Amino acid sequence: MAVLKAMGVVGGGQMGSGIAQLGAMHGLDVWLLDTDPNALFRATNSISTSINRLISKGHLSKAVGTDALRHLWYTSNLEELRSADIIIEAIVESEDVKKKLFLELDYIAKDSAILASNTSSISITRLASATSRPYQVIGMHFMNPPPIMKLVEIIRGADTSDETFSSAKTLAERFGKTVICSRDFSGFIVNRILMPMINEAFYTLYTGVATKEDIDTGMKLGTNHPMGPLELADFIGLDICLSIMKVLHVGLGDNKYAPCPLLGQYVDAGRLGRKRGIGVYDYG
Ligand code: CAA
Ligand code: NAD
Repeated sequence: MAVLKAMGVVGGGQMGSGIAQLGAMHGLDVWLLDTDPNALFRATNSISTSINRLISKGHLSKAVGTDALRHLWYTSNLEELRSADIIIEAIVESEDVKKKLFLELDYIAKDSAILASNTSSISITRLASATSRPYQVIGMHFMNPPPIMKLVEIIRGADTSDETFSSAKTLAERFGKTVICSRDFSGFIVNRILMPMINEAFYTLYTGVATKEDIDTGMKLGTNHPMGPLELADFIGLDICLSIMKVLHVGLGDNKYAPCPLLGQYVDAGRLGRKRGIGVYDYG
């Protein structure tokens, strides 16, 4: 199994920027790609803020932090990912959009490259079917925020090889993460359990059982969660939560996963959570 030295990350939003940061902090050369130049600008800022925060808390040496910033390149040109040993995508949670990207990545990536998805819920087998190398396609599901959260969920598609699995697991462990493995079913392990809870919190608000503050306080103080479910939904992004619920609903074929209408209405209104400054709560 070859040691991975160069990494491409596609999608420079909250997850992609955090994954790119992890790669650079652990000795890889990293190219972070986004089609939106503003997203790349925001990623540059959030990565240096996060690295400075880790340095100031004593979690990272100044030398490693400075070196990490020197091993990160920002681009909008897919061709620049040509030399990557692994490319991890973290773009929108849409099967069609991700499949189109996998088709392009299969074309530009070197033959030995692993193509990984940070999808929260979508079938890895179906994403792999867009490529000519399904044995080199795998799910690497990081948690938000990637530099802090200790877990990576790994999902093998129907044809993922043992070698691809070992490389992905070794990389996640090199990043200091604990790995859990899920079979390729909608939502995998974490979101299969987490998202119905968040959806239920929206139903609790929608049906007037309690205020948003009391729902969140109930779960924070009542069950020791670091964030209440509505606050967490804002942190994840309401668009992402809705997309995941839709995948669970269709993929698992049970009405208990039907997305709450209130969640859909927030997304329709552009209230996507913290990243837009407004979601269930107003961050303005
Ligand atoms: N970069 C660097 N350091 C960071 C950071 C970042 N992006 N975010 C937080 N930190 C550090 C802080 O510096 C602080 O360090 P110390 O403990 O050394 O002081 C520590 O993390 C805690 O941060 P804060 O004090 O600022 O804030 P907090 O205590 O509220 O913690 C949090 C923030 C870690 C996000 C915490 O609120 C939390 O764990 N929330 C729940 C997160 C969660 O559930 N994530 C999973 C979402 S589901 C998912 O990701 C899957 C999916 O597909 C949707
Ligand atoms: P985000 O909205 O913060 O960022 C997505 C980025 O992808 C945007 O900057 C957008 O410009 C870019 N993008 C969209 N299409 C692109 C394309 N074709 N090529 C290049 N860039 C493109 O989203 P996010 O929260 O970072 O989520 C990204 C992925 O990670 C999703 O699949 C999501 O389900 C998954 N995920 C999210 C979380 C979370 O808490 N938000 C946690 C784990 C996994």
